[in-house]
Amino acid sequence: MEDLTGQPVSGDPDPQRSLIAVSGLSLGWHGASLSGGLPPACNNGPIGSFRHPLFARVYARLSGPMEQEVGRYRQDLVGELSGEILEVGCGNGMNFSHYGPEASVTALEPEPYLRDPAQEATGDSAARIEVLDGNAASLDFADDSFDVVVACLVLCSVGEQDRALGEIARVLRPGGSLVFLEHVRSQSPGKAKFQVAFDRSRVWPTMAGGCHCSCQTIEGMERAGFEIVSKRDVDIGPGWSHTNPHVTGRATLVNG
Ligand SMILES: C[S@@+](CC[C@H](N)C(=O)[O-])C[C@H]1O[C@@H](n2cnc3c(N)ncnc32)[C@H](O)[C@@H]1O
Repeated sequence: MEDLTGQPVSGDPDPQRSLIAVSGLSLGWHGASLSGGLPPACNNGPIGSFRHPLFARVYARLSGPMEQEVGRYRQDLVGELSGEILEVGCGNGMNFSHYGPEASVTALEPEPYLRDPAQEATGDSAARIEVLDGNAASLDFADDSFDVVVACLVLCSVGEQDRALGEIARVLRPGGSLVFLEHVRSQSPGKAKFQVAFDRSRVWPTMAGGCHCSCQTIEGMERAGFEIVSKRDVDIGPGWSHTNPHVTGRATLVNG
C-alpha cells in the first residue's frame, strides 16, 4: 500500500490494526494499544521513507511566513555555534541565515526539491555551508567527525528515530553537542492519546511528510546515550495544537 505521495506504507507491526481505505488514505486505529500504556512512537517507519515531494513543496511555501515566530528559536539554536557542524534535514535552509561566521556547516537534505532552495540560502549565511543529499538514519561520515549536530524540526520525520539518534551519537566528537528544536508528545495524558491516535491513523504523517506528533524524542536521546544539558518547552503556534509542545536545548553524550 502507498500513501498519497507514492511512499510505501509499512512498518507498523501491531497485528490488531484494522485498516480502512478511504480515498486512497490508510486509516489505522489501535484502540487496544491506546487503552493501555502508550506505545513508543517514531521508530516504525520504513527505511528510506523520507521522500515526500508534495509536502516539500508545501513546506517551502509555509516556512517563510513561519519564520516570524520560529526565527527567534532558530537564532537561539544555531546563532552562537562554532566549529564543524552537521545539520540533518536542513529543509530549504531556514536556519542558514542564523549561523555566525565561526560555523562550518555540512547540511543534509534528502528531498531534492528542498535541496535547491537550501543551496540558494547558503548565500544568506555568514557561515561556510555545504548542502548534501543524506539520510539522518544512515550518515555517510566517519565516527567523531563533528563538534555539533543540529536537529531542527526533523526528528519527528526520520521514520527511525532511534537509529538516527544512534548515528548522530556516532558522528559526534567526544564532548560534542546535539542541539535541538523538536515537537514532542504532550505530558497531558488526554492530548498524548490524541497525538498517538493521530499518528497511528496515518492522517497526520501523510499530510505532513512523514511527521509524527507523538514522538518521545527526549527519551530517545537518552536511550541513545545523551544527557540533556538544557531544555525548555516552547509553543509554536497555538498551545493546543497537536504539534505542541516543542522542546529546545542541548544534549551531550554521557560517555563522550
Ligand atoms: C519539517 S521539515 C524541517 C526542515 C528544517 N530542518 C527546518 O527547520 O526548517 C523536516 C525535514 O526533515 C527532512 N527529513 C525527513 N526524513 C529525513 C531523514 N531520514 N534524514 C534527513 N532528513 C530527513 C525532510 O526532508 C524535511 O526537510
